[in-house]
Amino acid sequence: MDKITMQKLADEHPMVSVERLENIYHNLSHTLLSNISGAVVEIGCNAGGTSVFLKMIINELAPDRELHVYDSFRGLPQKSFYDTLFDEGDLAASLYEVKNNFCKWGLDLPVIHRGWFQDTLPTELPNCIAFAYLDSDFYDSILISLQHVYSRLSNNAFVLIDDYWDSDQITQDSLGLPGVKKACDVFFIDKLEKINLLPGSGNLAMGYFRKR
Ligand SMILES: C[S@@+](CC[C@H](N)C(=O)[O-])C[C@H]1O[C@@H](n2cnc3c(N)ncnc32)[C@H](O)[C@@H]1O
Repeated sequence: MDKITMQKLADEHPMVSVERLENIYHNLSHTLLSNISGAVVEIGCNAGGTSVFLKMIINELAPDRELHVYDSFRGLPQKSFYDTLFDEGDLAASLYEVKNNFCKWGLDLPVIHRGWFQDTLPTELPNCIAFAYLDSDFYDSILISLQHVYSRLSNNAFVLIDDYWDSDQITQDSLGLPGVKKACDVFFIDKLEKINLLPGSGNLAMGYFRKR
């Protein structure tokens, strides 16, 4: 994967940065090259900026892997008590934008799941997942993603959670999406795995875990 492609994607999509893509690249490529079985899923794909990148990595390293992407295409749902930034309906992108992005880069479309996560995730996730990228900003959205993804993860599967920030450990300005960490705190209370932080600059805040 070359830096020019990453920079172009970052220039085209306000929510994408080269550093974020580097984190995705290192972790997805490691997962695929380690032959961890299962599909790649992105839960919260918006206009497909990172979806395109996931597909490029799959094509380069493991073209047989399926990519599934999920979004309401109506923006964010109602926020919970834990969510501060953004409001209902913010960040709306269209299915057309996703298709257009894939077309522009000459890539085959992923499997696109349109709808609220509570309606799609229970029945439309692949049974076996190798890599999941959770990028949905709000407490309820991250919690429901974890609840449905977790039991489908292969051993050593990798889950990357965007906007996970820990105020004790990260000192730079963050995006201020405390619902993301709160959902993880609640979900992992009785799990073997714990979330690790991926260091980043600016407002980059990512966490990850590997399934035991
Ligand atoms: C930050 S954006 C995703 C950005 C994308 N991953 C990228 O980097 O280009 C978050 C997306 O999650 C979607 N979303 C959040 N909660 C959702 C829910 N409960 N059901 C369906 N979509 C949801 C929003 O519509 C929005 O497009």
